[in-house]
Amino acid sequence: MADQLDKAAVAKAYARWAPIYDFVFGAVFERGRKAAIAAAERIGGRILEVGVGTGLSLPDYSSANRLVGVDLSAPMLRKAKARVAERQLGNVEGLAVMDARHLGFADAAFDVVVAQYVITAVPDPEATLDEFVRVTRPGGEIVLVNHLGAETGLRAIGEKCFAPLARRLGWHPEFGWQRLARWAARHDGVEHGGVEHGGVELIERRAMPPLGHFSLIRFARKA
Ligand SMILES: C[S@@+](CC[C@H](N)C(=O)[O-])C[C@H]1O[C@@H](n2cnc3c(N)ncnc32)[C@H](O)[C@@H]1O
Repeated sequence: MADQLDKAAVAKAYARWAPIYDFVFGAVFERGRKAAIAAAERIGGRILEVGVGTGLSLPDYSSANRLVGVDLSAPMLRKAKARVAERQLGNVEGLAVMDARHLGFADAAFDVVVAQYVITAVPDPEATLDEFVRVTRPGGEIVLVNHLGAETGLRAIGEKCFAPLARRLGWHPEFGWQRLARWAARHDGVEHGGVEHGGVELIERRAMPPLGHFSLIRFARKA
């Protein structure tokens, strides 16, 4: 129930953001977006963009890659569809309204899963990352770009204070690296408590502008 409420709040927030999203976030997130695309294209092939939003990144991929985009917000996706039509992006296989936690794709359906500025907007980041692993082929990669909350210091205090307001904007600014590290440790391909999670390996964690508060994180799905 809380999950449904959270998703409804996120969908409502992004319905409000959709008309002005490109203007507000287009330039701010540009460097991270380009870095994520470069990382995804090192593997290439069939790429899933989760939380594709207004599709700002789609024209920047090489036309050699096949792209699928999903997002919870229909108004954001409408913008993405208009962009695909206007830019005649023939390599975009499809765009669909879908919850990142329940992806309607077969296991190992993609070479790369990219999620830019998304993982702190979903109600259950760990379960959502599990779903990313499921749809990534062994040897493929999961590429995240995201704000990661500071663990200590003034920025951590500021983020804690800002958290209630940010949640109303569909964002959890206090989400830190430790949660991702704990999630990855559980995905070592070994059985824990009777459940074996698919193995992942951290390949890269790099600070990104603005101000290094964002990070590019790459996980490989173990073969
Ligand atoms: C900050 S925007 C990022 C959009 C785009 N990736 C970009 O870089 O501009 C976050 C996006 O994640 C989407 N989102 C949030 N929760 C989601 C969920 N549970 N499933 C799918 N998309 C979700 C939002 O609708 C929004 O479009």
